[in-house]
Amino acid sequence: MPVEETTAYAPLLRRIHWATAVLFIAAMLIGFYCGLQQPGTSPRRELLEVHKSLGMTLLFLSVLRLMVRLATKVPPEPSSLSALVRLAARLNHVALYAILFAMPLTGYAFSSAGGYSLKYFWTFSWPRLVTDSPQIAHAGEVTHDALAYLVYAAVAVHIAATFWHALVKRDGTLARMWPGAGHDRSI
Ligand code: HEM
Ligand code: HEM
Repeated sequence: MPVEETTAYAPLLRRIHWATAVLFIAAMLIGFYCGLQQPGTSPRRELLEVHKSLGMTLLFLSVLRLMVRLATKVPPEPSSLSALVRLAARLNHVALYAILFAMPLTGYAFSSAGGYSLKYFWTFSWPRLVTDSPQIAHAGEVTHDALAYLVYAAVAVHIAATFWHALVKRDGTLARMWPGAGHDRSI
């Protein structure tokens, strides 16, 4: 029997990637808008509730994604890519994974320690792992706000690179993540 070559990421990883893309970009834009509004005002308060809920959803989705990523095959990179482009792509992906964990965790830490609302879409409240700690609340908030710049940069580079590969290089990079592509039937 011929061995089928893996030409795309695992189907479950691809589904999680696109769900993440939609939820993450929504959380990022809402966070950006809220950062421009005065604390305690409407609609900042309501939108932050949505922002935090999307963020916590992304945290759980990212744990599942990391497990799928480690358990499945990664398709080989197109041979036309230079060593520098490969390195840049890997660094970008590592930065995005780091962000997928660092943003929800710093947000969760500062909302917990600062005594702010931690409701999940107006239903239950997440447990507070740390309470009444102005130092942790401050550190979490400063880190969350500082990392926001890395978020904007890493996501902009990632999307621009996708367009560059798809429209200029036409090297099949988008197909590696496209639903329905490839041969990996593992998950
Ligand atoms: C992947 C998940 C997340 C992303 C991408 C994200 C992104 C952002 C961004 C870009 C901002 C605007 C920062 C600024 O303009 O200074 C922001 C603000 C904020 N985020 Fe997140 N966030 C995430 C998860 C969370 C979580 C889970 C919480 C809390 C449980 C949270 C709480 C907040 C709060 C309260 C603000 C307003 C901070 C301020 O005005 O100083 N975030 N977030
Ligand atoms: C419209 C938005 C997006 C597009 C068009 C897009 C496109 C792509 C494409 C084509 C790949 C495959 C690259 C390769 O073959 O190596 C990919 C991989 C990846 N994307 Fe995106 N992406 C988007 C949003 C995002 C967001 C918001 C995140 C995370 C915050 C993200 C994280 C990743 C990661 C980590 C990989 C590497 C595959 C993995 O290990 O999971 N992407 N993306």
